[in-house]
Amino acid sequence: MPGLIEADDEGMYVLKFRGAGQGALALVAELVAGEIGRVLGLAVPELVFVEVDPALGRNEPDAEIRHLLKASAGLNLALDYLPGSTMFDPAAGDVADAATASTAVWFDAFVQNVDRTARNANLLVWQRRLYFIDHGAALFFHHNWPTAGLKAASAFPESQHHVLLRWASAIAEAGARARQLLTPAVLHEILEGVPDDWLVAEDATAEDRRAAYLAYLTQRLAAAGTFEEEAQRAYQRLL
Ligand SMILES: Nc1ncnc2c1ncn2[C@@H]1O[C@H](COP(=O)(O)OP(=O)(O)O)[C@@H](O)[C@H]1O
Ligand SMILES: [Mg+2]
Repeated sequence: MPGLIEADDEGMYVLKFRGAGQGALALVAELVAGEIGRVLGLAVPELVFVEVDPALGRNEPDAEIRHLLKASAGLNLALDYLPGSTMFDPAAGDVADAATASTAVWFDAFVQNVDRTARNANLLVWQRRLYFIDHGAALFFHHNWPTAGLKAASAFPESQHHVLLRWASAIAEAGARARQLLTPAVLHEILEGVPDDWLVAEDATAEDRRAAYLAYLTQRLAAAGTFEEEAQRAYQRLL
């Protein structure tokens, strides 16, 4: 569970704790996938780094929160809080335009994000625009690097459950645009923005990891036809 905080710039943010279940890798996914979505033209709340002071949890009466704060001392990730936003809900009459929906279906297949279903849309409506949130479970190959090569070229059958699929009539166009926007330089810059501290592992330096993410994303881009066709078939079945 993220937390709502007021930071020392007086802004309100939704804090994603480094000490939560999936640890720093969830923050890497949140940041890398979120910035990829932004490059593709999707609205993603601004992502910022928040330093959590180790003293913060000391007097916290709830043991679970106290442990979470203690485990999250240091650099964490937060999203700009969108006050008064509501969760996108097709059952309540929310709709999307074809370009946004098609880009979203392509994007979620590219970063392998399964959390965009009607039940769990992770899509906020704010000032009549759709905002994409909660990408911490994307890029799940990074929990198991030896399988990354296989995952990069795989289709993404989960597209059939995408909350915006019914409006995604232009997936091929979205893919063509994405190929132009996601240049190696753009991907490189996004990865440069990930703190070393979240990337280093026993068997790899931060630079090793950045190179591995870049290789993965480049490979997935080259194989995008596979997941595009899968998503287009799922769309056709919905008609
Ligand atoms: N930037 C934001 N502005 C307003 N509300 C948010 C924002 N980010 C998350 N929320 C709210 O917090 C809930 C949980 O956030 P989310 O990132 O989906 O984490 P998780 O599903 O892992 O608990 C969302 O469903 C949404 O209601
Ligand atoms: Mg969520």
